[in-house]
Amino acid sequence: MKKVTAIVIGAGNRGNNYAIYSKECPDFEIIGVAEPRERPRNLFKKFYEIPDDMVFKDWREAIKLKKCSDVAIITMQDRLHKEAAVAFANQKYNLLLEKPMGVSASECEEIVSACKENDVILAVCHVLRYAPQARKIKELIASGVIGDVMNIQHIEPVGYWHYAHSYVRGNWRNEALSSSSLLAKSCHDIDLINYWMSHTYVDKVTSFGSLSHFKKENKPEGAGSRCVDCSIEDKCPYSAKALYLERAKQGNLGWPVSVVTEGYENVESTKDLEDIVKDVQQKLETGPYGRCVYDCDNDVMSQQVVNLQFKEGQTCSFTMVACTQKICVRSTKIFGSMGQLTCDFDGPVYHFDFNTKITTPLYAEEYLPSGSKMTGHDGADYHLIKAFVEAIQTGDRSKILSGPDETLSSHLLVFAAELARKENRVVNLDQNGRPISNVH
Ligand SMILES: NC(=O)c1ccc[n+]([C@@H]2O[C@H](COP(=O)([O-])OP(=O)(O)OC[C@H]3O[C@@H](n4cnc5c(N)ncnc54)[C@H](O)[C@@H]3O)[C@@H](O)[C@H]2O)c1
Repeated sequence: MKKVTAIVIGAGNRGNNYAIYSKECPDFEIIGVAEPRERPRNLFKKFYEIPDDMVFKDWREAIKLKKCSDVAIITMQDRLHKEAAVAFANQKYNLLLEKPMGVSASECEEIVSACKENDVILAVCHVLRYAPQARKIKELIASGVIGDVMNIQHIEPVGYWHYAHSYVRGNWRNEALSSSSLLAKSCHDIDLINYWMSHTYVDKVTSFGSLSHFKKENKPEGAGSRCVDCSIEDKCPYSAKALYLERAKQGNLGWPVSVVTEGYENVESTKDLEDIVKDVQQKLETGPYGRCVYDCDNDVMSQQVVNLQFKEGQTCSFTMVACTQKICVRSTKIFGSMGQLTCDFDGPVYHFDFNTKITTPLYAEEYLPSGSKMTGHDGADYHLIKAFVEAIQTGDRSKILSGPDETLSSHLLVFAAELARKENRVVNLDQNGRPISNVH
């Protein structure tokens, strides 16, 4: 098989996450990187043995070269996707693009057009489509074993400390700086629902949401502005000391500590533990991850519901909620005319048949190869990049479940839900997912 070569644009958490596949698959090679931050750039360069002339501080430097690899893996922050994706597509790079594809409908459309006009392969990292449970549910619905789908209930539990890390202190805390939490976090879930129901389309959307708790007025008496000098930190479940410093001291340097240290778990550390702990301490004294969760510039929703009605009257309720025990383990119930599917995404899909009255646990077939480090999203990250690399090798685009059209379709639903929430109304959609104007 032909070797697939890639340049990584943004060697942060996700860039490293996909690049590691090159250590597991001999047909995939990382040949370049663009990354402005010195430490992640140097760690990445060393780990993937990238020559100096293929290491860039900005993607704009890399694009000046003539096309240097089969693929550009674009894993920069949300608001940086569109310009880079269009530029690399115009240079005929195939794209692995992190979600969200873009932060508005027009950005997403521009990316899709650029990929189509240049006839390049695009996979957006809606990794959950590749999760064995999601594929099993799709297969079961399509097979008709539960008859006609009547209703879907789907929940995304973000996790109390995960929410504090990413959506109060971290990169996705503020919509103007990144995107809404529905787009940043739950575009995966809206996408799954759209995937499972691809035989029809959504024609009505409503949504409610708010930001609770993580606000200045809820700051407890005696709390400091940083956890390192807070007198009641040991009674706070959101303590940055517990979340980062204690983990670092125990040698637990993977995510989320790696976000604070700007080092990544897949990359060999160049520092010893004592230095890393000092580094974390200093970052908590001065950086964003040491801030009191009641004293940040966050404004994204901590809970949101989205109600969807499909063309033939089927309904779906989706809930995203910040403060949960489970971290991102989705849970789904799908009610059909002949049976029911129930799944927590850390276990099998249960099928209850109304005729036989038997419940059958159905295990998804695809597992991670033993020893794989790509355990992200329970192995879905592995299946996504594997499918993408195989699609590039063979030219068979059907291997990609999250290509331009299906991604645009589910992103449009997210934008419609946000419109419904912000304008406090039902948004009616046409067959192409576009809001039908002036219908309240
Ligand atoms: N698929 C998923 O489940 C999933 C999970 C988490 C994050 N994400 C998405 O992945 C993207 C990246 O998230 P992350 O957690 O890796 O963030 P990150 O901040 O760790 O990584 C982004 C990197 O891009 C780099 N960068 C910034 N400007 C650049 C430029 N001009 N040229 C090259 N690189 C540049 C940053 O320095 C940073 O290292 C985001 O869009 C995020 O929403 C997706």
